[in-house]
Amino acid sequence: MSHELEQLRDAALAEVVAAGDEQTLEATRIRYLGRSGTISAWAERMKSLSKEEKPAVGKLLNEARTSVTAAIAERADRLRTEKEARALANIDISLPGTVAEMGTLHPLTQMLERAISIFRRMGFALAEGPDVETEWHCFDALNTAPDHPARNEQDTFYLRDGRLLRTHTSTVQIRTMEKAPPPIRIIAPGSAYRRDEVDATHSAQFHQIEGLYVDEKVTVGVLKGTLEFFLRELFGAETQIRFRPHYFPFTEPSFEIDVKSKALRGGEKWLEMCGCGMVHPAVYEQVNSARGDNAYDPEKWSGFAFGLGMDRLAMILFGIPDLRYFGANDLRFLKQFS
Ligand code: DAH
Repeated sequence: MSHELEQLRDAALAEVVAAGDEQTLEATRIRYLGRSGTISAWAERMKSLSKEEKPAVGKLLNEARTSVTAAIAERADRLRTEKEARALANIDISLPGTVAEMGTLHPLTQMLERAISIFRRMGFALAEGPDVETEWHCFDALNTAPDHPARNEQDTFYLRDGRLLRTHTSTVQIRTMEKAPPPIRIIAPGSAYRRDEVDATHSAQFHQIEGLYVDEKVTVGVLKGTLEFFLRELFGAETQIRFRPHYFPFTEPSFEIDVKSKALRGGEKWLEMCGCGMVHPAVYEQVNSARGDNAYDPEKWSGFAFGLGMDRLAMILFGIPDLRYFGANDLRFLKQFS
């Protein structure tokens, strides 16, 4: 007659083969090989056996454990394969798939990403500042006199506490210089706000890319080279560019830049693109007094600044006739820029 361990082993093997799913198989494993399983119990019982009996029973116990464990592993493998096959059999690969709707980047974002990557190549870092600003950052520090028309309530959104919505991103020039000594080479894209009558080319909220480069020996030549490179990279190598003298309180000399390119919408005409100039010494003086040092010594450092109209750049680049499309959230419009 066979030993009880052999009977247990055969019963276990039969149950393993019969197990139809993973839970049943696991229950079988626990019943025979678990901590208080019937095969495992023999390890305890061995202790009370005589010296002569022990080796033979020990061998049987080992053999039962090994063969049942192997059978369970094999069965588990088989059950998993069968389950996967069943799952696959239920998939009808001739059915059309569910297409995930892909979003697209807003044209302004696309335009901004292009601009950032061009300025990055020239070593400009990204900077930012708040939309709600002090009058000092928006005007005084930028050498804009108290009676300047831009400060008028008809042109600027003032808050009750005296702060305002920045009318240009030039505020970030000041915030950057307050925080860090020269050299500085940053661009600062962001929103600006003016109390404009809304039409195809004006909006109460619009976007600019500000730029500031302060170092030793920064000249008008560097300004010109930098912005010409940027505009040709953006609009194409054959783009014509001209600098016109202009006036801004915070730069001297100041310029406006016009571009002309057949590739652009309205490209037969000169299109105004950008204000720029050499940072006015009075701006450095304001920054120094806020910092309480002479880090921006106008005798030592020079720099240029510029402000690009981002909405306008995007309109020209993509041929968009009306600024109001940017904020209308109309998918028919947005999907054209995928
Ligand atoms: N802040 C000016 C504006 O909004 C644009 C501008 C002109 C920015 C000249 C500059 C600059 O940094 O140097 O019209």
